[in-house]
Amino acid sequence: MNSHTTLAKFIHWTFTLLYAYGIFKQVDDLTELQNPSLLNFEILFATIFLILVLVRYFYMKDAPTLLGAHEDLSRGHLFIAKTVHRLVYFSLIMLPTTGLLIAGLFNLGMGGIELAIALHEFSAFLSYVVIALHVGASLYSRIKGEGLWNAMVPVWKESGKNNSNLLSKLEAIEEKIYKKVEDKFI
Ligand code: HEM
Ligand code: HEM
Repeated sequence: MNSHTTLAKFIHWTFTLLYAYGIFKQVDDLTELQNPSLLNFEILFATIFLILVLVRYFYMKDAPTLLGAHEDLSRGHLFIAKTVHRLVYFSLIMLPTTGLLIAGLFNLGMGGIELAIALHEFSAFLSYVVIALHVGASLYSRIKGEGLWNAMVPVWKESGKNNSNLLSKLEAIEEKIYKKVEDKFI
């Protein structure tokens, strides 16, 4: 059975915790940055976060997408999954980068900080949307029993394909969407 490497799984799950922590500890407003130890901590955290995202990206970039699927997946399906993964990486790079931009502008007392904050908030919003899509799609795939869940998730293991009537109908709709995506983008 195809599976992601142990290191890939380790990175995926420790990074999930790091992301959750980053979102949880978020700065509430600009005035908090007047506290130098908080500002330094934010800068350190954002730097480590950014380095880890880049290391992860280069480690994972050649790993096959939707590895572990029992059946061949259509090109449209893979294209959508890859696009969502790329958007996850994009938002995870933008979050610390725009955070560091805020810190730089704040330290220098320069203008443009409102724009940096708007970009930072947009990055946070984008990360919520694409990660929710990612988790939703993973759960849907788990219910279908396609095999990819087992390749990354160590709990609630799949035992095989679920051939219920409803899922077969949904799969027929999915195939139509993938065909459209293939015609338009690939
Ligand atoms: C907590 C619920 C989550 C579940 C059930 C889940 C599930 C999965 C699964 C099954 C895969 C393998 C897909 C494949 O083989 O192509 C995967 C990959 C991936 N996941 Fe998640 N995931 C979760 C959370 C997250 C979070 C919070 C992030 C981002 C911070 C994330 C980012 C990624 C990325 C970028 C990949 C592509 C492989 C890689 O580059 O590491 N996931 N996830
Ligand atoms: C990986 C690192 C970081 C993460 C994950 C993160 C995450 C967040 C999130 C989720 C928000 C709330 C956005 C919203 O309202 O939707 C936020 C707000 C904010 N962050 Fe960050 N942040 C990071 C780094 C930084 C850094 C380095 C700074 C500057 C030193 C910074 C300064 C701010 C400020 C000033 C706000 C408040 C914006 C406002 O006034 O509404 N962040 N951050």
